[in-house]
Amino acid sequence: MNQRLRDKLKELQQQSEQLEPSEKERKKLTQKVVQYSERFYDELPDKKVYEEPKSSKESLTFSFDEEPASMDDLLSVFKENVEIGGLTSASGGHLGYIPGGGLYPSALGDFLAAVTNEYAGVSFAGPGAVKMERECVNWLCDLIGYSDTAGGNLTSGGSIANLIALANARDNADITSRDYHKTVIYTTHQVHHCIIKAIKFAGLTDARLRLIDMDEKFRMKTGSLISQIKADRQQGLIPLIIFASAGTTDVGAVDPLEEMAKIAEKHNIWFHVDAAYGGAFLLTDYGKEMMKGIKKADSVTVDPHKGLFLPYGTGALLVKDVKKLRTSQHMHANYLQDTYREAEISPADLSPELSKHFRALRMWLPLKLFGIAPLRAALNEKLLLTRYAYNELKKIDYIQTGPTPQLSIMHFRYVPQEGDANAFNKELTEKIHQDGRVFLSSTHIDETVYLRLAVLSFRTHLETIDRAIAVLKEKINELTTRTVPVS
Ligand SMILES: Cc1ncc(COP(=O)(O)O)c(C=O)c1O
Repeated sequence: MNQRLRDKLKELQQQSEQLEPSEKERKKLTQKVVQYSERFYDELPDKKVYEEPKSSKESLTFSFDEEPASMDDLLSVFKENVEIGGLTSASGGHLGYIPGGGLYPSALGDFLAAVTNEYAGVSFAGPGAVKMERECVNWLCDLIGYSDTAGGNLTSGGSIANLIALANARDNADITSRDYHKTVIYTTHQVHHCIIKAIKFAGLTDARLRLIDMDEKFRMKTGSLISQIKADRQQGLIPLIIFASAGTTDVGAVDPLEEMAKIAEKHNIWFHVDAAYGGAFLLTDYGKEMMKGIKKADSVTVDPHKGLFLPYGTGALLVKDVKKLRTSQHMHANYLQDTYREAEISPADLSPELSKHFRALRMWLPLKLFGIAPLRAALNEKLLLTRYAYNELKKIDYIQTGPTPQLSIMHFRYVPQEGDANAFNKELTEKIHQDGRVFLSSTHIDETVYLRLAVLSFRTHLETIDRAIAVLKEKINELTTRTVPVS
């Protein structure tokens, strides 16, 4: 009986050993991927920044099979169905939404993280990986200006960081479902929609959301905030959290953080700054001045996959008092009892994630390899490119710009001499997308359609902005001089 079992086990082992390629096979596989990435980099400067995806009639493209496939075949599936089509977000010509880029050493960090499969959730299991995450977080905390009571967590992005911040504020105020209908949340119309989602996920949809008035630069009016808080207190409501933005996605507005921090402190309200987009500019003197007061926030979101140019999947929540975050997020589990002998706080105590991607390595490796100086230079370059782009836009007839950019995003529209301006600007956006030499996105503020230009990829340089302006002029020209077909 036991012999039959042993034979069966040997047979299964033989099959499962296919999961462990030999050294020779590994080298071959790695070489093919490296060749692919080198070809990608070679073509990147001339690659279309946007391309319509192919109509996907082959719905079985990514489907699984019992039988193995070759790496060559899989790389060609990847090229045809992933690389081609949609937005080339690694391109410097990506000037829409919020660009970033994807520093190459991060890819190598991800490679090593996957090879070693270091456990980054709990210090007992992965002390080095956890220490590295703590160093990354501490460095970001220093950037904010926090003291050593601070801490935080590397998240998958800004949305999750904002969600954890809200949960932290809620738990810190000891608010439970009995109070939700009396709870008040303050922000502006410009806030990123992930915060509205976070309110939903935190179960706080019954809370009252106050969208405070903004000035002409889309920054919260602090006078209106104070009046609203006072009115809410008089009604017996519970002001819970003020969400400020340090760089809104739509127009790049930075709320008056210093004043808002004072108001939050005076009225005992949690103060969170969503600096997912703007936070990295703290590396520059200009950014430090712009975001003065950020260090007084109870919590801050920064997205290294935006302004630190890392690949997607790296956000950070930073909190002034890491013990409060631990109280909100830690949960005991019997099967983790061996891990609790460590006095230090693990990432799993600071977020809903237990097992997590070893994100720190993709951040630590490029920052150490390059040093901080080129990152700072790239961010200063983006700020100056923005000023340059804004000046160039202002020179184009019938272009109406928004206010002077506060960081590296601007919005503008073309006002045609006749016809519907919104329809014109939508068509203009589509034309730019079809052209593909650069990518700009659009938005609307109230009922008015605008194009946006966001400068944040480390691969965006002077030549890229000149190209963007040239494409824009060309497309405006095509639209304004088109011949109307005779009906
Ligand atoms: C200001 C701001 N907050 C939050 C987010 C959401 O971050 P993520 O996409 O990393 O989840 C974004 C994304 O663009 C953002 O610009």
